[in-house]
Amino acid sequence: MRDVPALFGGIPIRPRMLPYGHQWIDEEDVAAVKEVLLSDYLTTGPGVAAFETAFAEKVGARHAVAVSSGTAALHAALHAAGIEPGDEVITTPLTFAADANAVLYLGGRPVFADIDPETLLIDPSDVARRMTPRTKAIIAVDYAGQPADIEALRSLAERRGLVLVEDACHSLGAHHSGRPVGSLAALTAFSFHPVKHVTTGEGGMVTTDDDVLARRLRTFRNHGITTLPSERVTWEYEMVTLGFNYRLSDIHAVLGLSQLRRLDTFITRRREIAAVYDRALQGVRAIRRPQPAPGRDHVWHLYVIQLELDRLSADRAAVLAALRAENIGVNVHYIPVYFHPYYRELGYERGSCPVAETAYERVLSLPIFPRMSPADVEDVLSALRKVIEWYSH
Ligand SMILES: Cc1ncc(COP(=O)(O)O)c(C=O)c1O
Repeated sequence: MRDVPALFGGIPIRPRMLPYGHQWIDEEDVAAVKEVLLSDYLTTGPGVAAFETAFAEKVGARHAVAVSSGTAALHAALHAAGIEPGDEVITTPLTFAADANAVLYLGGRPVFADIDPETLLIDPSDVARRMTPRTKAIIAVDYAGQPADIEALRSLAERRGLVLVEDACHSLGAHHSGRPVGSLAALTAFSFHPVKHVTTGEGGMVTTDDDVLARRLRTFRNHGITTLPSERVTWEYEMVTLGFNYRLSDIHAVLGLSQLRRLDTFITRRREIAAVYDRALQGVRAIRRPQPAPGRDHVWHLYVIQLELDRLSADRAAVLAALRAENIGVNVHYIPVYFHPYYRELGYERGSCPVAETAYERVLSLPIFPRMSPADVEDVLSALRKVIEWYSH
C-alpha cells in the first residue's frame, strides 16, 4: 500500500515547515554585533574595513567593497564597468531578477542567452550568438553554487572587449580550476541575504583586482562622493558622479566578519547534505540529480533536482504542493526573468531561451542549509519518496 500524501488527507512527514534555506547565527555573531552597538561607529567605521580585508583575502582578490545588498553589488559592478544607456548586457534568464534589473537601472538592455541543459549555467556558445555591436558586458551567474564556465566566457569577453561580471551570490567559497570565485572575473558580486552562505541580514560585496574599478565602486556606494568624512582634512568634499547610498553599516559588517570565519564549516555541511541526497536519489528514475561539471567545485547554495515529467502523472506545481503539504519547504529557482509582467511589457517574449524554459518546468530546490539535522534531511527524502511514488506511473 502506498502512503497517502498529506495533500490528499494522509499524515504529513513532519509537523512544522522545513524551509529551503536558513541562517545560522551563534553566540559569537551576537557578541560581535553587541560590541559594535556599544562602540562609537555604527557605520563607515573599522568593522567595514575589517570585513572587506578579510573577504578580499578569502576570495583572493585585491579589493573587496562592501555594499548594502547583492543587488547593490550588481548595480555598482555594472556602473564600474561603464554601462550606459543603450548598452546591451548578456545574462541568463534562470536567475533572480536583480541581474537584469541592474542593467535596467543604468539604462542598458538585458539580453538573455540560453543555458546548458545539464548544469543549468549560461551557455557560452549561445552568449556568442547573442552578441551585437552594442554588447558591453556579460553577467555570468553561478547558479545554485556552481561556477559558470568562466574560462570560456572570459576568453569570449577578452576577444570582444567586454567586461565579465560574475554573479557569485550563490557561490561564495567555490573554486574554478583551483582558483577561488571572487578572483576570476573583472568584477564579482556577492549577497549576504540570510539564505546565502554567510549572512549580514542584508548586504553584499563586490571584488576586483583593478584599482580603478575599486575606486569607482567606492565612490558609487557613497552618493558619488570621493571621500569619507574620516578621510577629509577640511569640510570640503566632491561629488563627481551620480551615486547611491549603498553603504553597509558596521553592525552588518561585523556580523559578516564573524560569519566568514565559519564559511568553510558551512560549506562542508552543505556538501555532506548534498552527498546524502545524491546517494539516496540515485536510481530514482523520475528525478534527475544536479550534474556538477568537472573542474568546478559546487558549494550547494541550492540542491536543484529536475523532475522527469514523462515518468510522472503530475506536473511540477502538483509535486511542489504535495511536498509542501508534507511540510517540506521546496522552492523553485527561478521563474525565467523575462516571464515577469514587467519584462513582458518591455517587449520580451516567451520562447527566446527554450532550454531555460523547459528547465523551469522541471526544477525543484530541496531544502539545504548547514543547520539542517540528519533527521531533517531524512524527512526531505521520505517526503520525496512518498510523493514521487504516489505520482509515478
Ligand atoms: C543569483 C542572485 N543574484 C542576485 C541576488 C540579489 O541579492 P540581494 O537579495 O542580496 O539583493 C540574489 C539573491 O537574492 C541572487 O540569488
